[in-house]
Amino acid sequence: MFGKRSIGDAPSAPPAVPAQASAAARPAAPASPVAPRPPQPTQPRPQAAPAPQARAASPAARPAAPVAPPPRAEVEEPEYRSEAYYRVKSTIFNALIETIDLTQLAQLDPESARDEIRDIVAEIISIKNVVMSIAEQESLLDDICNDVLGYGPLEPLLARDDIADIMVNGSNAVFIEVSGKISKTGIRFRDNGQLMNICQRIVSQVGRRVDESSPICDARLPDGSRVNVIVPPLAIDGPTLTIRKFKKDKLKLSNLVEFGSISPAGAKILQIIGACRCNVLISGGTGSGKTTLLNTLTAFIDPTERVITCEDAAELQLQQPHVVRLETRPPNLEGSGQVTMRDLVKNCLRMRPERIIVGEVRGSEAFDLLQAMNTGHDGSMGTLHANTPREALSRLESMITMGGFSLPPKTIREIIVAAVDVVIQAARLRDGSRRITQITEVLGLEGDTIITQDLLVYEIQGEDQNGRINGRHRGTGVGRPRFWERARYFGLEKELAQALDETESA
Ligand SMILES: Nc1ncnc2c1ncn2[C@@H]1O[C@H](COP(=O)(O)OP(=O)(O)OP(=O)(O)O)[C@@H](O)[C@H]1O
Ligand SMILES: [Mg+2]
Repeated sequence: MFGKRSIGDAPSAPPAVPAQASAAARPAAPASPVAPRPPQPTQPRPQAAPAPQARAASPAARPAAPVAPPPRAEVEEPEYRSEAYYRVKSTIFNALIETIDLTQLAQLDPESARDEIRDIVAEIISIKNVVMSIAEQESLLDDICNDVLGYGPLEPLLARDDIADIMVNGSNAVFIEVSGKISKTGIRFRDNGQLMNICQRIVSQVGRRVDESSPICDARLPDGSRVNVIVPPLAIDGPTLTIRKFKKDKLKLSNLVEFGSISPAGAKILQIIGACRCNVLISGGTGSGKTTLLNTLTAFIDPTERVITCEDAAELQLQQPHVVRLETRPPNLEGSGQVTMRDLVKNCLRMRPERIIVGEVRGSEAFDLLQAMNTGHDGSMGTLHANTPREALSRLESMITMGGFSLPPKTIREIIVAAVDVVIQAARLRDGSRRITQITEVLGLEGDTIITQDLLVYEIQGEDQNGRINGRHRGTGVGRPRFWERARYFGLEKELAQALDETESA
């Protein structure tokens, strides 16, 4: 039995994509640092279903994620619990932490720690004469173990692999995204103090702290999930936590075809784009599937190539043997030691890369990436936030302008045109599905205008009785894309011609 404790409570929907197949020049969009999102109708909430049992007592005990075809059916939601439950739990929890020594508990493996907690909780229940069924006791024990050993009420959500995002807006509002749809769960925290403790525990694992004086923090869970924490006074209604769940088994291009995100012929074109070392930008809104798409494209990189990836939080999972993964570093508590994406991309160039992959381009590193693309590192790729390929190009331009490079706009456009071969647009549609909505080539510069040409566009045709969007990926009749020669060089021109033919007749 443990002695007295020594520490406290541980514990873009595309606008129905216009069928723009033309190779004609379109005026360059004005450079805008932040692109407006197209309107997204509010999502209907799925029905609540019975609670999944919280079985994972600690991050280490979380089950391995199966391959992730997002289930389309109803969303399972943890049940809403009564006030009485939370009162009983709070009494027992307080008695428990008075009794145990959490530092000693932390040295045990999760199973033994759980057994220890189980014994003490059973004792407390009998001493305090709490009337509970066995099932209720089990559920309470799970809850308490999660509070003491793991991430508290978040544990059951972290254990589920169908969840893409967990969004905690203060202690009483926890939302999840499943199959592209956001719904509120019945999960709640005891109070903002408990939520704050959990935020603190998460960020301390990456050597950071979050409090009034440094109220914003990015971190990563041990399983690789990306976390953002923002706390009061900046977050007005309490600590706010956003988690992008890490999927152990990433989606493959074949999965995207299965889900209808791209047509089989479109997938073939993407495969050729990846294999024949086109420089690619993947553009899309938040959570539209950019990183996933980038990851699927990297599958077609030749295993002999040396690839260097630069990310803010390592999400990519390249399967090639010769990969160097780099990650940026935020400043430490004293405000020093920051390593930016630009630092990483610049350093990359001294590491003899054959391809450079930038998780997300959002600032002046755009210039270094384009320079790399222009200086023999073809096949480089990156993602950025934009709602159309044209907007992606103008965002690149504004990133460079705002990065303090005093270059005339025409020169910047020349660099962009020379560097970028293809822009692929990803979008989350209003029914929650993710689609590749455009594959667009950058052709050149006419006067001051960047000329692009769509190879494939997604056309929305309507929706079925369940509100799911029907549409099709349509070829635009381009027979010889600009990267034709490149495909020929890699011996892929016949496959490319066939894929283009198929898109047209699709
Ligand atoms: N085509 C798809 N079909 C179904 N689910 C998808 C698809 N693409 C991505 N997802 C899922 O959507 C979620 C978000 O994907 P991803 O991280 O790739 O988005 P993102 O655009 O990079 O987001 P962010 O802007 O936040 O970086 C993930 O859980 C991923 O598994
Ligand atoms: Mg991403």
